[in-house]
Amino acid sequence: MKALVVGNGGREHTLAWSLLQSPRITEVVCVPGNGGTATLPRCRNLAMNADDFEGIARFALVNNLELVVIGPEQPLADGITDYLQRQGLKVFGPVQAGAQIEASKAWAKALMAEAGIPTARAAVFTDAAAALAYLDREGAPIVVKADGLAAGKGVTVAQTLEEATQAVNEVFSGRFGEAGRQVVIEEYMTGQEASVLAVTDGQTIRPLVPAQDHKAIGEGDTGPNTGGMGAYAPTPVVTPAIMARVQQEVLEPAIATLRRQGIDYRGVLYAGLMITPKGEPKVVEFNCRFGDPETQAVLPLLETPLDDVMLACIEGRLDSLELQWKPGAAACVVVAAEGYPGSYPKGMEISGVAEATDTGALVFHAGTRRKGSSVVADGGRVLGVTGLGDTFEAAIANAYTGIDKIRFEGMVYRRDIGYRVKAS
Ligand code: AMP
Ligand code: GLY
Repeated sequence: MKALVVGNGGREHTLAWSLLQSPRITEVVCVPGNGGTATLPRCRNLAMNADDFEGIARFALVNNLELVVIGPEQPLADGITDYLQRQGLKVFGPVQAGAQIEASKAWAKALMAEAGIPTARAAVFTDAAAALAYLDREGAPIVVKADGLAAGKGVTVAQTLEEATQAVNEVFSGRFGEAGRQVVIEEYMTGQEASVLAVTDGQTIRPLVPAQDHKAIGEGDTGPNTGGMGAYAPTPVVTPAIMARVQQEVLEPAIATLRRQGIDYRGVLYAGLMITPKGEPKVVEFNCRFGDPETQAVLPLLETPLDDVMLACIEGRLDSLELQWKPGAAACVVVAAEGYPGSYPKGMEISGVAEATDTGALVFHAGTRRKGSSVVADGGRVLGVTGLGDTFEAAIANAYTGIDKIRFEGMVYRRDIGYRVKAS
């Protein structure tokens, strides 16, 4: 069976790699892919944009690709699944109506209220005056969010009213385009964040091993937020007791409520959680796709072939499939270009990937591209190096052993991935 993966990040390299571990998968085509998927055996890139639904459909049909996997949120929010399904393709990823759970924070909040899912108290505004009046009543700290997809830049955790006011004005300034038509203002929550990704066929929902990521660029979780600088799984912060609550209080009601609204949600439902100091899971946000870099830590632990899981979701048979996991832990450390998440250079030649792989680490490419016989940096997050081990400590140490072999000009990475777990 041949599969197609849409996207070009570390998540998509991991999805392609994971699919190729399955005995049934003979080839993976990535659209448009990166330097990692260009050099992975039995994998190739197709130079086509993720928003070219017609081109992707034609290619998949002509080449008999039996499984199409959508990596990023944008094409899902734009209805790629609906389009490809109408052409008769099997697509892993929710339909456009379901992707609203990530594409509109106001919509997600309304769904959570209807489902009774624990989350921060919130209010939604379409004009600045009403939003500012609300801020005055609530005070700080408080969280201000642009409603729509803003590539991770639409959220301000404001410690002061001044910051919050500025954030509201920024949302309505037009800087976020359509995504800034509404603002969601919500209660500030404290605790530890965790990511529970789950797969669903619209009826049954099964969690993957729980993960945590490090969003901040700097060690000790300081400095501006990024797409994610490292992740590890399974995180002990989400205990079996908390996981049971997540299943019962978050995942099941979300799927049931989507169904009640007539939305047949199949794919990944990713719950971004705050585990409060009392040990209660509260939803920070939902995503309609795999997390990046959580995927780089979670999928290497999955024993069940990924295509089996995805086809069971697409075909409504997830109730008869129990997910099997490898023992031990995985940790992914992201290597970025100097300057990220601000501006950064591109084109630096990367060396040592083969040597890193020889140590047993898995090197997933994010922002890279093939240039002749070499691979060069082509984005802010360049590589994700995953270590596996019997324990957390071993997994993390193995990731760094791999990174030690890798060189490119200006490479930066956090040396403290997993410190919260190590300290506990
Ligand atoms: P989001 O895009 O909604 O996940 O928000 C990005 C980040 O902002 C989250 O990962 C949290 O670190 C932080 N955040 C969002 N909402 C809240 C909240 N209500 N309380 C505290 N932190 C939050
Ligand atoms: N790692 C956070 C995300 O994928 O949204």
